[in-house]
Amino acid sequence: MTASALQHYLQFSDLTADDYAYLFARAAFIKRKFKTYEKHQPLQDRTLALIFEKASTRTRVSFEAGMYQMGGLVVNLTSQGSQLGRAEPIEDSARVISRMVDLVMIRTFEQHRIKRFAEHSRVPVINGLTNEFHPCQILADIFTFIEHRGSITGKTVAWVGDGNNMANTWLQAAELLGFTVHLSTPSGYGVDHAVAGLRSSASYRVFTSPADACRGAHLVTTDVWTSMGYEAENEARKTAFADWCVSEAMMALAQPDALFMHCLPAHRGEEVQAEVIDGPQSVVWDEAENRMHVQKALMEFLLLGRIA
Ligand code: CP
Ligand code: NVA
Repeated sequence: MTASALQHYLQFSDLTADDYAYLFARAAFIKRKFKTYEKHQPLQDRTLALIFEKASTRTRVSFEAGMYQMGGLVVNLTSQGSQLGRAEPIEDSARVISRMVDLVMIRTFEQHRIKRFAEHSRVPVINGLTNEFHPCQILADIFTFIEHRGSITGKTVAWVGDGNNMANTWLQAAELLGFTVHLSTPSGYGVDHAVAGLRSSASYRVFTSPADACRGAHLVTTDVWTSMGYEAENEARKTAFADWCVSEAMMALAQPDALFMHCLPAHRGEEVQAEVIDGPQSVVWDEAENRMHVQKALMEFLLLGRIA
């Protein structure tokens, strides 16, 4: 396969709305098989390399368990335990690792790092979170929304909190799949339109007040005040984000059947009240589980294309 024929998944906009329709249907099929203990092993003898330059629980378990369930193998690397942490160029690492495996997932810092890896890789590369994007999480979140409420097209998603990797990815998804994001971030922590890679501002509205952002929303979602890599800003962020805590009062302004999502890990009492994340509108555990099902569909798609 030539480098130009490779399909990577570095940001949400790398796939089309049609690809997503396929992936959501395929993930539902794969999930049904998992739930009925039916084997689904199209990736026998394929190897996935997982490269973590930041911590992870869900991404690690979902990719590793998912690949084994599909009959494949997994190699785990971290910066500290590999030459990546001793300044081996990312381009050289890509050339070497991609000669030995069929697929690579990377969790790293700047998007340009994963982009450089992909440019020198012989195999598809998946973004398992960068400072700018978290496409696998939004894939799982939208799949979870569809499971509970049907199509997300035409709906409203309220984002309460940091203009971070999750916010950027929600905005890309809204542009591609035809829904609206109500965005409320503290001053100075907004989304950078250029970094988010948006075509226009037509699919989102900015609100100063988080409560106003939640009004009428079909889904309310948030994330930690301080993302990985930004720990030095923790104290300043605690002050700036104090009012960006998803509360029962905010949920009451959303649609009566609105869902609550959080990519996890969560900090109860900071970005969300315990009563909300542990309450009846929260679907965070389905959301976490669905990481595995959608990523199985994604890995199959990147390696084998559309099936049936
Ligand atoms: N949501 C998510 O990506 O979780 P981890 O950081 O545990 O992988
Ligand atoms: N925005 C968070 C997401 C963690 C899954 C972070 O980047 O740390």
